[in-house]
Amino acid sequence: MLRIDGYTRLCGLIGNPVEHTVSPVIHNTLAQMEGRNLVYVPFHVEEGQIKKAVEGAYALNILGMNVTVPYKREVINCLDEIDGIAGKIGAVNTLVRTSQGYKGYNTDATGLYRAMCSEGIKIEGEEILVLGAGGAARAAAFLCVLKGALKVYILNRTKERAQMVAEEVNGQCKTECVEGMGIDGYKNLPEDKKYLAIQATSVGLFPHTQEAVISDKGFYRRVHTGFDLIYRPSCTKFMKLVREAGGRSYHGLKMLLYQGIEAYELWNGISVSQKDALLVYAKMKEAMGIEE
Ligand code: ATR
Repeated sequence: MLRIDGYTRLCGLIGNPVEHTVSPVIHNTLAQMEGRNLVYVPFHVEEGQIKKAVEGAYALNILGMNVTVPYKREVINCLDEIDGIAGKIGAVNTLVRTSQGYKGYNTDATGLYRAMCSEGIKIEGEEILVLGAGGAARAAAFLCVLKGALKVYILNRTKERAQMVAEEVNGQCKTECVEGMGIDGYKNLPEDKKYLAIQATSVGLFPHTQEAVISDKGFYRRVHTGFDLIYRPSCTKFMKLVREAGGRSYHGLKMLLYQGIEAYELWNGISVSQKDALLVYAKMKEAMGIEE
């Protein structure tokens, strides 16, 4: 039974749209499992209202917020403080209440890292292909560099955007290991080398389940592991093509799980065990109608 009383703490999600989010399942399940008096609610915030929304949340004693599209950059102007990695990435998806205001974090990146670790995927010393140059790709490229990748190639339909992101990551991280290319830039890479590929474009997202950003088998022969940030559908065309070429592939639902778990941990000052994380994961899959 859901308990709401005068001691109930509130957390939530700010975005537009927020109607299809699975995040309430993550946080409300965790709170219930822990017996914590906390509820998590999505808030649909209209364009131009983000500052008021954050100030209002603070005034209402709200413990923490997640932030989603389209406010992950804009919300930075509404913070009292920003975590180092989130500041480098230039995007915030989690607000943690402090005595002065909110501190911003990026648990998309750390959640992706935790998801990859849980699947046994290594970043350190690896050569990595990041597909896309939007917000998700930027966070993935930063993470790869911060976790010691040897080389990161950003491949994007709009080559200039890939080059801009590469330049920015190199500049922020004082490295030269990131290179931006057009989407077929892989053709210039050695054919006998295998890479980890992170799919961070929106191509293949439901309902366009038969699309992949690259369909050339020559690309997939170069991939030992494919990680798609998309989780709807749970097996994307990109994942199928990686498997057909003999590689392993994963969808992005564990990234979603761990970005939520990391936020919950920050809000409540606790660590969630691996066992509990997997129980939450099962609840998410159930809520989304995913079987495997
Ligand atoms: P997000 O912030 O969620 O990553 P985004 O900023 O809209 O979203 O970025 C979407 C990414 O998918 C971009 O890299 C985009 O390529 P462009 O920079 O060339 O626009 C990529 N993308 C979207 N549709 C695509 C398509 N049909 N073919 C190839 N790439 C596509």
